[in-house]
Amino acid sequence: MRKQASAEAPANLAFVKYWGKKNSGLRLPANNSISVNLSQAKTSTTIIFDSDFEQDRVILADTQTPAKAEFTLRVSEHLDRLRKLAGAGGVKALVQTQNSFPSGVGIASSASGFAALTTAASAALGLPLDPVVLSSLARLGSGSACRSIPDGFCEWLAGNDDNSSYAVQVAPPDHWDLRILTVVVSEKTKKLSSTDGHALAAASPFFEARLADLPDRLNKVRAAIVARDFKTFGQETEKEAVSFHTIAMTSPIQTADGWFSGAYYWLPESLEIMLAVQNWRAEGLPVYFTLDAGPTVHLICLEQDVETLKRQVKMLENARPGRNWTFLTNAPAIGARVLA
Ligand code: DP6
Repeated sequence: MRKQASAEAPANLAFVKYWGKKNSGLRLPANNSISVNLSQAKTSTTIIFDSDFEQDRVILADTQTPAKAEFTLRVSEHLDRLRKLAGAGGVKALVQTQNSFPSGVGIASSASGFAALTTAASAALGLPLDPVVLSSLARLGSGSACRSIPDGFCEWLAGNDDNSSYAVQVAPPDHWDLRILTVVVSEKTKKLSSTDGHALAAASPFFEARLADLPDRLNKVRAAIVARDFKTFGQETEKEAVSFHTIAMTSPIQTADGWFSGAYYWLPESLEIMLAVQNWRAEGLPVYFTLDAGPTVHLICLEQDVETLKRQVKMLENARPGRNWTFLTNAPAIGARVLA
């Protein structure tokens, strides 16, 4: 048997974050989350199942080098779930995958990666390509991947079991001409993975307070997207980013390297940009920030302001020698697709 398919999926940026799980095996989140798919951050994946292969292999297509053993294992475990559903138990696969952006720096590469992998593998194995089914399956690979399946602005419904936890569309990509200027200030991989961070979240003394705030915040963010109310949307999104990082910074960690009072994903440059955003806003430029689990800062503005914003960020970059930031200008994008 030999079966092959390719798929492409976007990374997504959460405005209301997924942080903490109520079931880590099933990747059931502690709360609903809301995101948008990013047009300039994609993973393309081709998968070949062949009964002559002796093991699963994952190749990073741009360099033609094998992926790290830990990642290959996570892919292989995910493929086991799909093979079981398709009755293709023992058939091993070759996965060729490529990101259009740097990984491990606060752009959700596991989201685009597992959304593309789930879509390509399901297509190759002849599994149903229903978006709800694909979204729950992608979730089992990486939680945030479930939000990269539908198009545009999405909400992940936390659910109570495997079948009730998946993402649905809140609005299509062309609903709102929002721009996300993603500023990658460092390409060094973060020390604490998101998966490890989730497990620590409940140890923060502020976690319960955050969960209590979230139903109201989810309602405000969802309604602001639908109404294209940029001010409410931006304010809630920025408060949410700080709430999520407060949890990360107050969840103590014991690792082989020692004890840490919490995970600090920001770098000095991240904070410099965050402070600048507050000044630019005071000077009349409507812009808000959010950050995921990494130093990358995502600046949210309307299409009409993106060039002005870029000039401001460039000036900040050039204010100190030796800086070399990477910029991605994202628009709301479609979700995962099987490629011809
Ligand atoms: C901070 O989806 O990477 O980006 O389910 O363990 O793979 P796993 O976690 P992951 O967590 C993403 C965390 C976040 C917030 C978000 O995207 O909602």
